[in-house]
Amino acid sequence: MYQSKIAGLGSYVPENVVTNDDLSEIMDTNDAWIQERTGIKERRHIEKGDGNTTAVMGVKAAKIALERAEISKDDVDLIVFATLSPDYYFPGCGVQVQEMMDIHTCPALDVRNQCSGFIYAISVADQFIKTGMYKNILVIGSENHSGGLDFTDRGRSVSVIFGDGAGAAVLTRSNHIGQGILSTHLHSEGKHAKELSLEGPSTLHWVPEIIAENPQGDDIPYYPYMNGQFVFKNAIQRFSEVIMEGLKANGLEVKDIDMLIPHQANLRISQFIQQKLKLGDDKVYNNIQKYGNTTAASIPIALTEAWEEGKVKDGDIVVLAAFGSGFTWASAIIEW
Ligand code: ACO
Repeated sequence: MYQSKIAGLGSYVPENVVTNDDLSEIMDTNDAWIQERTGIKERRHIEKGDGNTTAVMGVKAAKIALERAEISKDDVDLIVFATLSPDYYFPGCGVQVQEMMDIHTCPALDVRNQCSGFIYAISVADQFIKTGMYKNILVIGSENHSGGLDFTDRGRSVSVIFGDGAGAAVLTRSNHIGQGILSTHLHSEGKHAKELSLEGPSTLHWVPEIIAENPQGDDIPYYPYMNGQFVFKNAIQRFSEVIMEGLKANGLEVKDIDMLIPHQANLRISQFIQQKLKLGDDKVYNNIQKYGNTTAASIPIALTEAWEEGKVKDGDIVVLAAFGSGFTWASAIIEW
């Protein structure tokens, strides 16, 4: 049995900064409401003509991660791409990355687990490395939210939260047993699928059909729906549960955590978990203030920044945790 470790990290966000004040010019919202409810000050949006897409941003992050891992693209054995905002309905972004980076015919797969997508993708990669089937795996989380949100007053409770960006990690076989990904823990609860969802365009909600049924453009199901308070309640419960499950599986306790990187759903959710677990400010990393919620990209962007700032060091116990649409939730326990 082998063990995997993260050998390189990279991230990319578009240059275009959109502040809360910028949003208040196009919809009925304000900086105070957004900061009080979510902690978000600004986010990045792809700008028309800047060339960015979900796959393109993923490639930018992946190139940095591969360079830092000192692994050639020719040695990548598998690409795992997590997103809820793919460039195409099909095929997935994984094969687009393969084409854009001129990577040989290794397998490429997409993971569709929304905010938990990156940890699910890490878990998939970890299993392939553990069995010895693959050695180097490129894991990417990337989202283009701004292309699919409702920026009218109707969509304001959702659209102010999300931002665009990408993060990537290169997983490789660890030479030291005990160092690397110790375990991953995945859950989902499909009965709440609709509470945070985007129903169409899909085979159930096809665009011409939707337009024919909604000539006035009301009640169109191709913008995301979120039952905010229900999501909040479930998130704070599941985040704590899955962190404790991961610690217990490794004989660890909360006091052993050197750095918790929670999915950047909402600063209030992260703060709630921090208080519940009684973790100090230096043990939890948040950057949602700058980027908003970037779903599958939020953990790899935050992990990359924490590592760049020297806040994730050799020997540290690093905990990744996420909750999101599905509902899905997950954690990864890593000895760095
Ligand atoms: N600006 C100003 N006012 C707004 C906005 C806005 N952007 N959005 C909604 N409002 C108004 C509402 O219309 C409502 O007005 P009313 O009282 O006159 O009807 C009022 O603010 C309160 O609306 P609520 O939806 O009840 O606001 P709430 O306090 O629940 O906050 C929020 C909404 C921030 C989404 C909250 O429910 C929450 O934090 N939920 C957690 C969900 C979350 O964070 N999801 C992140 C993505 S999912 C994930 O990553 C797990």
